[in-house]
Amino acid sequence: MNSKTNHEVGNTPFRHLPSLSPQGHSNIKIFAKLESENPTGSIKDRIAEYILGKAHSEGALDKITTIVEASSGNTAASVAFFAARRGLKSVIFVPEKTSREKVELTEKFGAKVIRVSLDRDYMQAARDFSSSDGCYYLMDQYENPWNREAHYKGIGQEIIENMRQEPVHAFVAAGSTGGTISGVGALLKAINTDTQIILADPRSSVLYDKFYKLKDGANVSAKDTALEGVGKRRVPGNMIFSVVDRVIKFSDKDAVDMIFKLTEYENLSIGLSSGANALVASMVANEYAQEGQDVINIVTVFPDAGWKYESKLSDQQWLNQLES
Ligand SMILES: Cc1ncc(COP(=O)(O)O)c(C=O)c1O
Repeated sequence: MNSKTNHEVGNTPFRHLPSLSPQGHSNIKIFAKLESENPTGSIKDRIAEYILGKAHSEGALDKITTIVEASSGNTAASVAFFAARRGLKSVIFVPEKTSREKVELTEKFGAKVIRVSLDRDYMQAARDFSSSDGCYYLMDQYENPWNREAHYKGIGQEIIENMRQEPVHAFVAAGSTGGTISGVGALLKAINTDTQIILADPRSSVLYDKFYKLKDGANVSAKDTALEGVGKRRVPGNMIFSVVDRVIKFSDKDAVDMIFKLTEYENLSIGLSSGANALVASMVANEYAQEGQDVINIVTVFPDAGWKYESKLSDQQWLNQLES
């Protein structure tokens, strides 16, 4: 558990990352929201608190004993935490690759965690389970529009405040449910249609191909990304492509290398998807530099921190098998 356990959700630190500016272009700046400072250590506290709060106020939890969710691990801990706060139980379906740290944290909050093998759809498993009894409430982060609404009203508004009237030229985020990129992206576009909304996507994900309509099937790669919580094999309901301007691919190895770089140069311990976001943000910064742009602000998010992946980041065998 991180040091901010007793704090409330949101109002997370906003960090300028000078080491990511292209050489000789210190006014092409990259900023990141440090979402590990939320109570259970990730951005997903925002949606769990918001969705359960809204469901409660609409009476949807009146006959409910148990919250059910499918999650790559961060939402799992958040749902378990906020369900317990409401005196509710939780059952969470996670993909097999979910880190030990995330599973342990979720179980610590009293959730029953069910690991689903990679050849099965863990979202469908949660859906099937939740429909089996009227006392279950499926939060459904992939399809529930309150997910992206939480980010529009929460982290999106905070980014505007953090920027203090300065323009946001580009916003970069990898996606899973799409809640972050679609919610924040919609708000930034509403303020300035010129803001570039850029989705970072692992090589094995279908989102790039779906966005550019290259292929129509799922499972384009037999090998799933090693990074938890990013990329998808189908397009979830919360991934609103009309908000997105571009999708940029990255390799798992480059994303993880970026994690170590930020530890060294910024004294930051960031999670796997944060490495991907920092990597693609720096690729975008280099493009602006090559175009001869002088003053540019690029904003990204660091959804969680390195402590959620300690067992992987310290495992040389895991590091060696990353696709480059
Ligand atoms: C660590 C991590 N990064 C990024 C994301 C993607 O965020 P979103 O679901 O809002 O697209 C997730 C979602 O599961 C996540 O757990």
